[in-house]
Amino acid sequence: MTTLLPFLIRLIGLRDPHAEKHSDHVTEYAFALGRAADLKAEELELLKFAASIHDIGKIAINEFVINKPGRFTEAEYIMVQQHANIGANLVENLDIDPSIHSIILNHHENFDGSGYPNKIKGEEIPVGARIIRIADTYDALTSDRGYRPAYSNKKSLQIMEHDAEFFDPILLDLFFRKVARKH
Ligand SMILES: [Fe+2]
Repeated sequence: MTTLLPFLIRLIGLRDPHAEKHSDHVTEYAFALGRAADLKAEELELLKFAASIHDIGKIAINEFVINKPGRFTEAEYIMVQQHANIGANLVENLDIDPSIHSIILNHHENFDGSGYPNKIKGEEIPVGARIIRIADTYDALTSDRGYRPAYSNKKSLQIMEHDAEFFDPILLDLFFRKVARKH
């Protein structure tokens, strides 16, 4: 199963040149948070796999939209949101554990039910997807975007605290204490 990974990651990189670095970071933060949350070794392996290809659905989204330097229009945002369903459908065809499919499908669901694609909430969201939601947000905030430079670590954590309802509170607390950089 893991022999597929480099191929899949390179495929995602074709559409979005920043994706490989982002996938690496998200995988590192997600793995650290999964370990802090006492996930079993097997679950950690699946989490790592899912984290490194969580945005694979973006290969089917228009590349000018994906790489747009400014903010998305509403229509573009709806288009970008499709990447969760598309990614899940794509990996469904691979001979991999079904939990990876479910993590990819749900990696933009919010703990309060305000996320996408299905607006599920709380523990209905698989734990791996709840972990990636946190890791993904932290890396997005601490990275340069087309429309803004990276936020400082301190500012990024303040933003996540402000938006705390999006995240699993126990995992967010663990992330702040054990994973996020201190400065
Ligand atoms: Fe995503």
